[in-house]
Amino acid sequence: MKKSAITMLFLFVAFIAFAATTGEETFYKKCTSCHGSSLSLKKQKSMKQWSATVKRMKKHGLSISSSESQSVAEFLSGGK
Ligand code: HEC
Repeated sequence: MKKSAITMLFLFVAFIAFAATTGEETFYKKCTSCHGSSLSLKKQKSMKQWSATVKRMKKHGLSISSSESQSVAEFLSGGK
């Protein structure tokens, strides 16, 4: 009984930790090392345009997974 409660708690914490990695966090983690965040935040682009920009950043040396680039594009475009 006690063991399964601990397992449940562990799964719950793992889930929260996973769900907490938002596009915004990925953006601040991945997109502010070469230039400041304001360069991106002051720009208005659609989701498609942001995906293209992130792809170009990969050529500059950015390492990012495809799900991370998706969530960053979503965050920057406001889901548009
Ligand atoms: C390895 C360094 C590097 C990283 C990491 C990086 N960039 Fe860039 N970024 C550049 C360079 C170099 C330029 C200027 C040349 C260009 O625009 O392609 C630039 C230019 C830009 C511009 C201005 C030009 C435009 O298209 O509006 C934006 C916006 C931008 N980056 C967004 C991002 C975002 C969003 C991320 C994270 C997904 C990111 N950058 C990560 C190097 C980087």
